[in-house]
Amino acid sequence: MIRRLALAATLALGAFDTAGAAEWHPYRHISQAPLGFWFVAVMVIGALLLFTYWAVERPVSGREASPSRKGYHALGALVLAMTVFTLLLYVVVAGRIDALGASDDAWAWSPGETLQDPGGSDMSGEPYRGYQVYRAEGCTYCHTMYVRPQDIATGWAPGATEADVSVPQDFANYPYTLLGTQRNGPDLSIIGRQIPDMSYQIAHLQNPRQFKPNSIMPRYDYMSQDDLQDLAAYLVSLGNDPRKLKAGTLDDADTATGSGGPSVPTDTDTPAAQGKKLYSSLGCVGCHSTDGARNVGPTFQGLYGHDVALESGETVTADDGYLTRAIRDPKADIVKGYPAVMPAAYGDMSDADLDALIAFIESLSDDSGSH
Ligand code: HEC
Ligand code: HEC
Repeated sequence: MIRRLALAATLALGAFDTAGAAEWHPYRHISQAPLGFWFVAVMVIGALLLFTYWAVERPVSGREASPSRKGYHALGALVLAMTVFTLLLYVVVAGRIDALGASDDAWAWSPGETLQDPGGSDMSGEPYRGYQVYRAEGCTYCHTMYVRPQDIATGWAPGATEADVSVPQDFANYPYTLLGTQRNGPDLSIIGRQIPDMSYQIAHLQNPRQFKPNSIMPRYDYMSQDDLQDLAAYLVSLGNDPRKLKAGTLDDADTATGSGGPSVPTDTDTPAAQGKKLYSSLGCVGCHSTDGARNVGPTFQGLYGHDVALESGETVTADDGYLTRAIRDPKADIVKGYPAVMPAAYGDMSDADLDALIAFIESLSDDSGSH
């Protein structure tokens, strides 16, 4: 009898495996479980009940049933009952996963959907694959994907506000979560809102020290172009509302209201708006903040029209001339207290791009031009 049960269970497990174990996992709704799952569940619970019955009721042959022996049986039955209870509890809880109500911005990509680079380059990528690349490359060893209230004060999640604090719903649609425990690098759950640009993300992945001279993040330049693009598409999809950016191209109407939301550049943009896109696509965003925070380089907030102290001891006013020099020839003036690590490669930027960048920097000063 027991042997037959074991055989049946083995067969059922086999069926469970082929009947879609690959597609089914406990984070999804229990009603999606394949038949094999229910078969195994009924078999296991049935076998446990049978065994309980047998253990308690079986006539003890030979000797007189001693009270202590009966006690052991009762104990065994209790353990079995608890097992069954736990299983039931699990099924009930798993069945209620929908009651959690995945938040609107919960991540719900499916394989095959692509994303156009919100930064405006011609790249596209498949975030769902990127999510798997992220896991395979072990980015979780250094990065977390959830914002705690205390992270806002400490800056572990740069740019995060109270509204970004993670709630259980945020993870309800993930096949597996990539929470991470170590914070060797910043939290990445809203990185796509901060730096919505695939070309920057790829450049940073390939050589983090190009932007962060002291970064301990490894270089990922060995990855294939496909992997890099998909990973970057995943990164820029994070933290946007809705998190699932529109597949294909981005719908401008969706993002127009959000501050700093990604959008594709168009010719009708003002110079400052174009500059904002260049700021991200040229990688300035990796070193310069726009909110006053110190990064590798000085913040752009309130820079235009204000005095800048230089390493040389001089003080200059950040007017168009100074900014042009600072961008085209970074080594000419070094800002006091900062390393001279700004890339010289921006020297050959077009005049139109330079003007747009300066217009963008100007737009970040309240009293621009008052000096
Ligand atoms: C050994 C630890 C480590 C690993 C592994 C690691 N990172 Fe990082 N990461 C860092 C550190 C430290 C920083 C902050 C300095 C910097 O920006 O390079 C960082 C920064 C970042 C940033 C923010 C860049 C910016 O400009 O603000 C992104 C995005 C990022 N990592 C993505 C990844 C991805 C994707 C992977 C996996 C392929 C990964 N990291 C693996 C340590 C790590
Ligand atoms: C690798 C990091 C890095 C990148 C990328 C970078 N910068 Fe810088 N930048 C710096 C640092 C560090 C300084 C301060 C030292 C200096 O003056 O060279 C600086 C200084 C500046 C200044 C002068 C700021 C002040 O307070 O006077 C301007 C303007 C500027 N950068 C613009 C840009 C623009 C525009 C881009 C993108 C096209 C850019 N930077 C990209 C690191 C960077």
